[in-house]
Amino acid sequence: MARNQKDHYYRKAKEEGFRARSAYKLEQINGKFHLIRKGSRVVDLGAAPGGWLQVAKSISGGQVLGVDLAEIEPIPGVFTLVGDITDPQTTDRIMEVLGGEADVVISDAAPNLTGIWDVDHSRSIDLARSALAMAKQILKPGGNFLVKVFQGDMFIEYLNEVRREFGLVRSHSPDASRKESAEIYIIGKKRLTAPVRSGEVYDVEITSEGSSGDGIAMIQGFAVIVKGTQAGDRVRVRIGQVKRNFAFASVLEK
Ligand SMILES: C[S@@+](CC[C@H](N)C(=O)[O-])C[C@H]1O[C@@H](n2cnc3c(N)ncnc32)[C@H](O)[C@@H]1O
Repeated sequence: MARNQKDHYYRKAKEEGFRARSAYKLEQINGKFHLIRKGSRVVDLGAAPGGWLQVAKSISGGQVLGVDLAEIEPIPGVFTLVGDITDPQTTDRIMEVLGGEADVVISDAAPNLTGIWDVDHSRSIDLARSALAMAKQILKPGGNFLVKVFQGDMFIEYLNEVRREFGLVRSHSPDASRKESAEIYIIGKKRLTAPVRSGEVYDVEITSEGSSGDGIAMIQGFAVIVKGTQAGDRVRVRIGQVKRNFAFASVLEK
């Protein structure tokens, strides 16, 4: 008997009319992190056969769009495209269909597995990078992101790439993921649109002081709070935590 036939979530999906057991992963992740809400516009990358699309549609009730290399059997109220998420033209096609920005981008895209850990890991990271690049173009400010990756030595580097783009980032393995699976999901909430990113270095002039007494520099019209400085100081700073409307930075050199 194939492993699938014995699997609890596989049987549950059959009984409840979901196209894939992975539907429960999205249900569980969303139950915990509330990425998709009523009315959310959702773009699902690597969406075939459509389990996540069914779940996304039932939570949101709004515009839901799925993209995959493979054709997706129609789902009422869901728009689907055949496309490659590593091709930048796919982003244009998605934007055309959406007619605006998305509230949530989710990606369960996975490469065909070779069984060679390093190869599968690096192909999965490539797909996750394409998903992130798309999310950066498609998502509205404050929007949410969910992506699957296979664990390996490039995981932390990729996690940090997501951290630069979102206000809150977590990694999580839902109960519905098989225990032996190498997959893990990264959740990015609150898409940042600030012109600065954590870790960047700038030479700035402190032009004012906030109510806390810390100096404030403006970078492309964006306020950066620099502890221990005052108006008139010229300093080299490293950007720390980035919030939606301001960032913190620490002084490297006065
Ligand atoms: C695990 S399945 C997705 C299952 C889906 N979340 C569901 O619930 O039905 C992974 C999908 O990623 C798709 N995929 C892999 N590479 C892709 C690419 N470059 N562009 C679009 N889809 C891709 C595969 O065709 C496959 O259907």
